[in-house]
Amino acid sequence: MRLHVGSLRQMRTFAEALAGHLQAGDLLILTGNLGAGKTTFTQSLGRALGVAGRITSPTFIIAREHPSFSGGPALVHVDAYRLSDAEELGDLDLDSELEESITVVEWGAGFAEQLSTDYLQLTITPAWAEVAVDFANDADLADDPELEDERRSIDILGHGSGWDERLDRLGASLAELFELEANADRTGGTDTGPDPDKDTDTDKDRA
Ligand SMILES: Nc1ncnc2c1ncn2[C@@H]1O[C@H](COP(=O)(O)OP(=O)(O)OP(=O)(O)O)[C@@H](O)[C@H]1O
Ligand SMILES: [Mg+2]
Repeated sequence: MRLHVGSLRQMRTFAEALAGHLQAGDLLILTGNLGAGKTTFTQSLGRALGVAGRITSPTFIIAREHPSFSGGPALVHVDAYRLSDAEELGDLDLDSELEESITVVEWGAGFAEQLSTDYLQLTITPAWAEVAVDFANDADLADDPELEDERRSIDILGHGSGWDERLDRLGASLAELFELEANADRTGGTDTGPDPDKDTDTDKDRA
């Protein structure tokens, strides 16, 4: 399913709604261009889950565990941007924490799938990156579309049987808050491998 948030505040609302559906053992794989809002979303998720520590874009630390304030699952935040292959991800030994934590992997598409057969894939697309957006009709944004444009599309795809029913429940919650668009490819099925149609290795040049 796909939804649109019009502001940072709505992104926070989305993260809060999603947090209410997450449980220990969940894996979230975040995709989207540089500056799409993956870390910002994870910060809101961390706040909603009530975990400690500042969630940042790590320069050296690739994985960081944020323990819960209230006895809930910890949030493990991984930025896989600097990892070159699945083996390096394996070296982080995330498996040991996966079961008790909620694990969020930025830039994980293409290799974080090896961590679990069940995962939720979120793709965040800024309006400024969406070719279909007609900025000419938006006088405020026409000058500098990247500046202060908080609009984001979020595509949510459940992979693995564990998300079958949960995705419906999540959709029901989100439908109360946002207008949802059905996605023809609603779930990724049980296929654990990367989508061969997707080039997951593009645009990795961080400014
Ligand atoms: N609706 C929104 N959701 C998320 N971030 C937004 C939104 N609107 C504006 N922003 C801004 O966009 C920027 C997103 O940066 P962020 O570091 O979260 O991106 P990222 O996807 O993690 O990038 P990177 O690939 O470099 O890790 C932030 O400055 C944030 O304030
Ligand atoms: Mg980031």
